[in-house]
Amino acid sequence: MERIKELARAIAFTLTGYRPQHVSPETWDREYREGQWDYLRRMDSLAGLVSILGYCQFLNPASILDAGCGEGLLAEKLKLLPYTSYLGIDVSREAIASATARLGDDRSLFAVADAWDFETDHRFDVIVFNQSLYYLADPAALLAKYQAMLAPNGRLIVSMVDNARTRAVWRLTDPHLRVEDAMTTIQGKGRVTTKVFLPN
Ligand SMILES: C[S@@+](CC[C@H](N)C(=O)[O-])C[C@H]1O[C@@H](n2cnc3c(N)ncnc32)[C@H](O)[C@@H]1O
Repeated sequence: MERIKELARAIAFTLTGYRPQHVSPETWDREYREGQWDYLRRMDSLAGLVSILGYCQFLNPASILDAGCGEGLLAEKLKLLPYTSYLGIDVSREAIASATARLGDDRSLFAVADAWDFETDHRFDVIVFNQSLYYLADPAALLAKYQAMLAPNGRLIVSMVDNARTRAVWRLTDPHLRVEDAMTTIQGKGRVTTKVFLPN
């Protein structure tokens, strides 16, 4: 049944174009409050997180922006690294409150912000979208906006579970970006692809 639904989604995205998965901030807040995303903390959800951790360990960024950081599951892993500053932004107040209480410190900050509205003069060595890009409208334009926030020689890292919607996202973003490296990890029944993009 799930395979048939996936096929229907793939056909729909091909015929009608890409649509993000729309979830309101209030719904995100409720879902975080009710623990609906707690499964992301389990061992079988590690694939994307460890891929990004590996890339960040290799790139050794001083400053990191995590767009759509949720409750800070990536921040928890990145704490192993010697970065100077980490900023996680997310549209959910609930998620940001949880991340700040558990993980906020001198070098790790969290802020409520819509990724489309977020502006800063700061430039980041790495900007990550971990399982968040397919909730956002016009992903190619959004990544162009965030490319402009990269420090010289900085990198964008995007990680998404593999399905019809995220394949539609890659089709929109990849022609505008230079892929430096990509890895696909298989864990349980799911596949996660993580790509590192060079500045244009
Ligand atoms: C599937 S969760 C992933 C969270 C986190 N990256 C992780 O891996 O645990 C998607 C996140 O994107 C956030 N999000 C969705 N739309 C957003 C927007 N317009 N601006 C900022 N964050 C957004 C949601 O609040 C949610 O926390």
